[in-house]
Amino acid sequence: MDSMASSAFRYQWTLLFLIALSRISDCYDPLDPNGNITVTFDIKKYTIDGYVARVMIQNYYQYRHVDNPGWKLGWTWEKNEVIWSMSGAFSVQQGNCSSFKFQVPHSCKKDPVIVDLMPDAQPQNRTDGCCSGGILAAWAINPLMSYSSFEVTVGNLEQNTTGYRPLNLTLMAPGPGYTCSQVMDIDPTVSSVIGGRRQEQVFRTWRSTCTYSSFLAKKPPVCCVSLSTFYNPTITSCPSCSCGCRVADELTTSCVRQGSFPSNLLDAELVRCTNHMCPLRVHWHIKKNYVDRWRVKLTISNYNYGKNYSDWNVLVQHPGFSQPATTYSFNNKVLPTSEEVALFWGIFSYNSELVQAGENQLGSVSTEILLQKDSKSFTLRNGWALPRRIYFNGENCQMPLPDNFPMLPNGSPMTKPSHSQFVLLTVEITDPGDETEAFSDPPSGFAQEFI
Ligand SMILES: *[C@@H]1O[C@H](CO)[C@@H](O)[C@H](O)[C@H]1NC(C)=O
Ligand SMILES: *[C@@H]1O[C@H](CO)[C@@H](O)[C@H](O)[C@H]1NC(C)=O
Ligand SMILES: *[C@@H]1O[C@H](CO)[C@@H](O)[C@H](O)[C@H]1NC(C)=O
Ligand SMILES: *[C@@H]1O[C@H](CO)[C@@H](O)[C@H](O)[C@H]1NC(C)=O
Ligand SMILES: *[C@@H]1O[C@H](CO)[C@@H](O)[C@H](O)[C@H]1NC(C)=O
Ligand SMILES: *[C@@H]1O[C@H](CO)[C@@H](O)[C@H](O)[C@H]1NC(C)=O
Repeated sequence: MDSMASSAFRYQWTLLFLIALSRISDCYDPLDPNGNITVTFDIKKYTIDGYVARVMIQNYYQYRHVDNPGWKLGWTWEKNEVIWSMSGAFSVQQGNCSSFKFQVPHSCKKDPVIVDLMPDAQPQNRTDGCCSGGILAAWAINPLMSYSSFEVTVGNLEQNTTGYRPLNLTLMAPGPGYTCSQVMDIDPTVSSVIGGRRQEQVFRTWRSTCTYSSFLAKKPPVCCVSLSTFYNPTITSCPSCSCGCRVADELTTSCVRQGSFPSNLLDAELVRCTNHMCPLRVHWHIKKNYVDRWRVKLTISNYNYGKNYSDWNVLVQHPGFSQPATTYSFNNKVLPTSEEVALFWGIFSYNSELVQAGENQLGSVSTEILLQKDSKSFTLRNGWALPRRIYFNGENCQMPLPDNFPMLPNGSPMTKPSHSQFVLLTVEITDPGDETEAFSDPPSGFAQEFI
């Protein structure tokens, strides 16, 4: 009886644990708990047969941007609305407007899909925040470029209407994975004019909040993590098959072996053959241990032969980021969450573009990071100095298992670093085999391993 009850209990507990785990990994990101994309409709004025609205798409995701080919916003009209005209964006299909004899609407679709204009749009079609081809920056990186807005004149409704909320909002940003809440009435948006001395408010405001789930996006993993340290010559490579497995038949072109450089790069998804098969790898190398600081080299490599990553970002969760850190070749910011996470992104026109792999080398960007030590928590033991979690452009990177972490060598004085030893060792403890060279760009230490 007892054992049955306990096994049932264990089963339930496991189930609960699995549910909790899947929630964490699929729907809710604990490192960006408030992340969302908010779509706001502000009705600025009523017209004879409808209204004029300003629609604003605001990306509140801290480190998830909307990349090429940009956002696509869709909805279903409640009544027989048409879009008479638009500025700052356009509807991709006009639909059947044959019942309009005198003035031709911009779109008569029951379920219009709207996209942003390109940067070369005519001045008369522009609105504030428009015309970036639907690309939105991440909120923590560039809030001024994290929104788009457009204006829409809606008609073909009865007179004196106050409008009907759009139904079933959909957002591709750019791919699937976003779920939008029902459009709701909220307090009308208030803005200040005359230098803040007068407040004006719109007639009516509707809002929907869209959130991302990698589970819904059904995206295969794109990124993996490899590790190395100055105190152990072993390189912990990305877990095998992190992003897929190599097809046994070498003739299929799922990947390209190094040395057999493809002549036609029509397939943008073509990557170099590796054990992990990921298009991206983030490498964390513990480079030096000083008395009161420690140094890490962070390298991001692109294995794609036909794809560049503009405005890439990398998020690293590590308790060491509770202490001040200096980053030499990337921008960085510690995010205001309780988890200790630092966000890194490229320096404009220096390394903000992670370019594609070439014939002989991977595309890569790297920086060194100097972290201050908290003497109470810092240790080289048990993989403490290795990252807990890494994201590339908001996508979780596959981490090696702790069993494979580089270990401190046995019998080394560093195995039990007593405080007095650290004080005596005023000279820095460096790597004997100069790992700096092994991880300079391109990381030559990896060439043989990943052929
Ligand atoms: C959307 O994000 C903003 C900014 O982080 C936050 O204030 C708001 O509560 C979020 N909305 C939802 C429904 O999560
Ligand atoms: C277009 O709309 C008109 C009027 O609503 C309708 O008579 C016609 O069949 C429609 N045409 C098509 C191709 O759907
Ligand atoms: C831009 O404005 C012109 C004139 O106002 C209009 O004819 C044209 O359709 C607009 N283009 C787009 C893409 O909205
Ligand atoms: C619309 O408003 C006008 C003036 O306020 C009023 O005379 C008319 O009856 C209204 N029509 C409808 C359909 O409510
Ligand atoms: C909106 O979505 C719901 C649920 O998916 C569906 O039942 C409904 O028919 C949709 N409404 C319209 C107008 O498409
Ligand atoms: C990536 O960037 C490089 C260098 O700027 C350029 O030559 C190449 O055409 C770009 N590749 C793609 C797919 O846009």
